[in-house]
Amino acid sequence: MNSQKHWEKIYAEKAPDAVSWYRPHLEKSLSLIEQLAPRTSAAIIDVGGGESTLVDDLLAREYENVTVLDISQASINASRKRLGSASERISWRVADITRVELDASAYDVWHDRAVFHFLTEESDRLAYVRQVARAVRRGGHVIVSTFGPDGPTKCSGLGVIRYDADSLHREFGVQFRLLETSKELHQTPFGTFQQFLYCHCKVE
Ligand SMILES: C[S@@+](CC[C@H](N)C(=O)[O-])C[C@H]1O[C@@H](n2cnc3c(N)ncnc32)[C@H](O)[C@@H]1O
Repeated sequence: MNSQKHWEKIYAEKAPDAVSWYRPHLEKSLSLIEQLAPRTSAAIIDVGGGESTLVDDLLAREYENVTVLDISQASINASRKRLGSASERISWRVADITRVELDASAYDVWHDRAVFHFLTEESDRLAYVRQVARAVRRGGHVIVSTFGPDGPTKCSGLGVIRYDADSLHREFGVQFRLLETSKELHQTPFGTFQQFLYCHCKVE
């Protein structure tokens, strides 16, 4: 099964709050974005945003230039429905982040929670990093969150790569200055815990 079919099936079968990565709010992501992009005109992209409520929280804070991209049409449809008429203030894209053509220097902030760790093929990771380097303006910010060294080895039936700050930063390279890193113990809706790593880099 290709990646898009896999994710469409997951979102067709599971309620938004019945997936392991669900949180009512992505507090850590939101607080980093607010700190790094205090201007509400900042261009922000949530890569693999799925059905997450980060977009709701960004709208509530009056961010005006938010893009949500996901490989799954079903997840984008669900988020649009949840937001109702407010969804018109968001730019939605259904695409594979390793293949889509994003505009150059289009974003001030790139956010990815739990997408990069699914890229187990080196060619996909290279395509992803090329994409970030092109789409985020110089001086812009990249927030990537993956499973940490003690995190799960699989998610939704797919293998993942676990990272510490050094190994994740190595994937991105020196053009990305690592400014901040932290770990989060995420409680799943089933009461289990997963270690996530957050890294914040600035594009030099
Ligand atoms: C584990 S979920 C995380 C969703 C959301 N970021 C969150 O934290 O709640 C991974 C998401 O990445 C999306 N995804 C997986 N591979 C992708 C790709 N190559 N390009 C774009 N989106 C992708 C999936 O459809 C799914 O919504």
